[in-house]
Amino acid sequence: MIIQPRTRGFICLTAHPEGAAQHIKNQIEYVKSKGKIANGPKKVLVIGASTGFGIASRITAAFGSDAATIGVFFEKPATEGKLGTAGWYNSAAFEKEAHAAGLYAKSINGDAFSDDIKKQTIDLIKQDLGQVDLVVYSLASPRRTHPKTGEQFASVLKPIEQPFTDKTVDFHTGVVSDITILPVDNPADIDNTVAVMGGEDWKFWIEDLKAAGVLAEGVKTVAYSYIGPELTYPIYRNGTIGRAKDNLEGTVPALNDLLKDIHGVSYVSVNKALVTQSSSAIPVVPLYISLLYKVMKEKGIHEGTIEQMQRLFAERLYTGQEVPLDEKGRIRVDDLEMRADVQEEVAKLWKETSTENLSEISDIEGYRNDFFQLFGFNFDEIDYEKDTNELVPVPSIG
Ligand code: NAD
Ligand code: NA
Repeated sequence: MIIQPRTRGFICLTAHPEGAAQHIKNQIEYVKSKGKIANGPKKVLVIGASTGFGIASRITAAFGSDAATIGVFFEKPATEGKLGTAGWYNSAAFEKEAHAAGLYAKSINGDAFSDDIKKQTIDLIKQDLGQVDLVVYSLASPRRTHPKTGEQFASVLKPIEQPFTDKTVDFHTGVVSDITILPVDNPADIDNTVAVMGGEDWKFWIEDLKAAGVLAEGVKTVAYSYIGPELTYPIYRNGTIGRAKDNLEGTVPALNDLLKDIHGVSYVSVNKALVTQSSSAIPVVPLYISLLYKVMKEKGIHEGTIEQMQRLFAERLYTGQEVPLDEKGRIRVDDLEMRADVQEEVAKLWKETSTENLSEISDIEGYRNDFFQLFGFNFDEIDYEKDTNELVPVPSIG
């Protein structure tokens, strides 16, 4: 079928399999161009492996250090006449490239929050790899069903206590307007967001993997967090999602305790703000990202998800030396984003931004391009007028 982008709000309803494959290829080429990561991981489980930081982590492990990878994700498969989701096509393309390179790669499609998917994953590790030496936790989800109680939690993106008014952009139209986001009126919203995006599920994964004996001596596990600038604090770090990130970061000591006897270590890596399916859903943040892109590209220090993950592996996790941490024990690859000169310029531009000057002072074009590329669109190499086969099987189990 002929596949064109079809959007509703911040969601793209269609995805292009060949474009997604191009996206994967470009990321693989980047990782290869940086050379092999000495002392890199060899057997890797990536939870949330199909898009964003997760697929970039999987590509870095596979093509940066020849790792066997198992990817867990929740995507819609393509069926006759019906498109799959972008993450499905990404994973199909990744597996094809990995297999062509002689690398082990299998995937599990299902709810990572469930006990059943954890068990299937453990069985697959036992059957094929024995143990894993790295577990990447890169889930981003709006909801979670608790595996022990069956309770359903929905996360919300709201400030706490004070209403928050600031600029936001509709990145499709380029219209900049003021938005007021009311604070949570129900304290349960905070707990629910923590239940979805906090550290409990990461802990459940590591507990189950450890109990099954599938974590190798010296195993590492890493989950991803965000801090960002003061201007987004009310909606991000000091909002409901920030509470979840506090909780995720607060899980590290418990995991380190759990892993102590096998000399394992857990980390949270604070990553840069980037266009992903998850971040495009947060108000205010897309405008910040558009300005940030402009400033960082002008300074020649812009990075995408693959550059971030390659740097995380090569210059933080696997240097053969101690992993550098901040005063709160976190890995920082948001260091370039948070540089004082970058933040000062973004803050200055932020005050000036309007619908009229948006395309001049921000990189809204780059934002849009990245957004469409998440779904396999906007690649020069692809002829989008051409018929393409929507059916690409992923040899997943589960
Ligand atoms: P994303 O939406 O691109 O990826 C989410 C992944 O989780 C996908 O692979 C999806 O299939 C999977 N997933 C969601 N629900 C699932 C479920 N129930 N079972 C199995 N898989 C499921 O998001 P992302 O932006 O790459 O986010 C990954 C992590 O990075 C999150 O913790 C996020 O907060 C963090 N982070 C993001 C940014 C950013 O700017 N995007 C910055 C710093 C940190
Ligand atoms: Na991800």
